[in-house]
Amino acid sequence: MGVSGSGKTTIGELLATRFGLPFFDADDFHSAANIEKMRNGVALNDQDRQPWLSGLAENIRLWRNSGGAVLACSALKESYRQLLTTNSQAYWVFLNGHPELILQRLQKRTDHYMSPGLLDSQFSVLEKPAYGIHADVSLPVDVIVEQIAVSIDKTNRSSEFGFIGLGVMGKSLALNLAEKGVAISVYNRHVAGFEEGIANSFVTVNKHHAAIQGFENLVDFVRSIKRPRKILLMIFAGAIDAQIAELADLMEPGDVLIDGGNSNYKQTAERAEALAKNQLFFIGAGVSGGEEGARKGPAIMPGGSSEAYSLCERYFNLMAARDKSGKPCSAYIGPEGSGHFVKMVHNGIEYAEMQLLAEVYSLLRNHLEITGTGIIEILKAWNLFEQGSYLLEITIDILQKKEGDELLLDKILDKAQQKGTGNWSVGAALEYGVPYSPLSEAVMARSLSAMKSERVKAAKLYPQGPKPANQNSADFINSLKNAYQAARIINHEIGFNLMQQASAQNGWQLNLSEIARIWTNGCIIRSSLMQELSETLKTSNSILMAPTVVEKMSGRQKDFRFIVAQGMQAGFALPVFSAALNHFLGFITANSTANLLQAQRDYFGAHTYQRKNDPEGSYFHTDWKPQG
Ligand code: 6PG
Repeated sequence: MGVSGSGKTTIGELLATRFGLPFFDADDFHSAANIEKMRNGVALNDQDRQPWLSGLAENIRLWRNSGGAVLACSALKESYRQLLTTNSQAYWVFLNGHPELILQRLQKRTDHYMSPGLLDSQFSVLEKPAYGIHADVSLPVDVIVEQIAVSIDKTNRSSEFGFIGLGVMGKSLALNLAEKGVAISVYNRHVAGFEEGIANSFVTVNKHHAAIQGFENLVDFVRSIKRPRKILLMIFAGAIDAQIAELADLMEPGDVLIDGGNSNYKQTAERAEALAKNQLFFIGAGVSGGEEGARKGPAIMPGGSSEAYSLCERYFNLMAARDKSGKPCSAYIGPEGSGHFVKMVHNGIEYAEMQLLAEVYSLLRNHLEITGTGIIEILKAWNLFEQGSYLLEITIDILQKKEGDELLLDKILDKAQQKGTGNWSVGAALEYGVPYSPLSEAVMARSLSAMKSERVKAAKLYPQGPKPANQNSADFINSLKNAYQAARIINHEIGFNLMQQASAQNGWQLNLSEIARIWTNGCIIRSSLMQELSETLKTSNSILMAPTVVEKMSGRQKDFRFIVAQGMQAGFALPVFSAALNHFLGFITANSTANLLQAQRDYFGAHTYQRKNDPEGSYFHTDWKPQG
């Protein structure tokens, strides 16, 4: 495409010869009336062009279906180009030249009905495409043809899988898959001054992977991927809907779009439903493991239709970490939204696990007053056994990082941030009626930490007073180890219970032991406990009811109570430890005092109550006021 005189016929014919394709000139498809008009020096209007472009669109479809063709056509406006590809697709080559150069060329021509006087009007309507191959027509013809052919070859070398968003996670996942020998295309948006040439520099830096193509143009990116296309979005949550809207126009029926970010599961289900109207598949895939996980193998939690999953399974499996028997830490989770739900619960468990470690650290450092090296030794010993986890490992590394002579940790501002998945988990727990106070306490602890200036003032108003005598620290540390493990079991029990409830209420049929299995490696909450749970959950849906767990919790109960009581008596906040203990004590209480709540409700609001001797039976109301 390009204005008259830009060399469309010459270059088009050479390209056709090079690719062994037929060549067509769009001018040959004009009606006699149009040709007459142009010969008389009258510019065609859009009405004149409409039937001509529609006829060409049909021809393009036929040519494409029979192996392709090269067409020379001015196609100056975006609307013309859209019309030309209504039924099909094309690789656009724009022959770009300066008006003066083109005028000189036109003036030399005698064999054409286009008068040079029409050139100005052509330039005035020309809308340069933001996509396609742009060739500089001032170069020698053979150089132009060579450049175009190389670009077409590149675009034609279809990729198997596409990545959108080359932030830390997107880059790492893209390299992960490319390394497995999969031809990929990567796209990153162009934001002048901020995100420029990201995809190309990614390709340049990773040249040794011949199978990566980089794009800043979404149309070319989409076209470079084999159908049915699989495109993974790794972009900022706020940009997802706009990106999906752009892609929905470019992708074709049967293509699959995957959102690998931490999206809200309800929005994921809505997006899947909306895209299904365009016959596009949408998978919401939880991806856990941070930058290192994404590069070396994350845990992947894909949710969507089983048909869409089967199209992508190979790629998820190739990218994912491996469990101890070599199986991929990725598995079909369930219908639309369920993958992101499971990832959200993963993060809920993550929040409470992190806070528990912070509370362990607080007791070791501030209560027992053990030094940094002493704490490292204790935690290293724990890590060898059932307390071992990725989060414990990174905590040990963090405790070793110095800046000068001091721990870097001591210089970090004690205000914890959060991106939202913890809050969503608390919301889901409330919605599904699942008691999840250890998680809500973990979220609230971050919110309380954010009140730094108030805490500093309050600490002066309420000095801690004398500390209780230090216990024998070896015994205390041993109790702490047991209490820590007990609190972790409660945290996992509740997280899995939340998934079970959501699964039952939504008909998702989540496989809890399979979810635990894919969380045994690659993800942030991988641990020895998760390994155990993947077995436990094969035979029991409730972790706390499983005989092996009953034995463990019973053996640790005393230490669990001791640590929470002693720690809080010594003046340390233990929000997740104490919430976990409260949950446990409430859970193992056969006869609770909720009967008093029921009586109070009935007293002031006649809300009625049921009786212990008929728990499923009738409701009663009593006049509670003392008589007389
Ligand atoms: C993971 C992490 C990851 C992210 C957290 C951070 O599984 O890889 O969970 O998704 O680091 O969501 O969340 P906050 O910023 O809310 O702590």
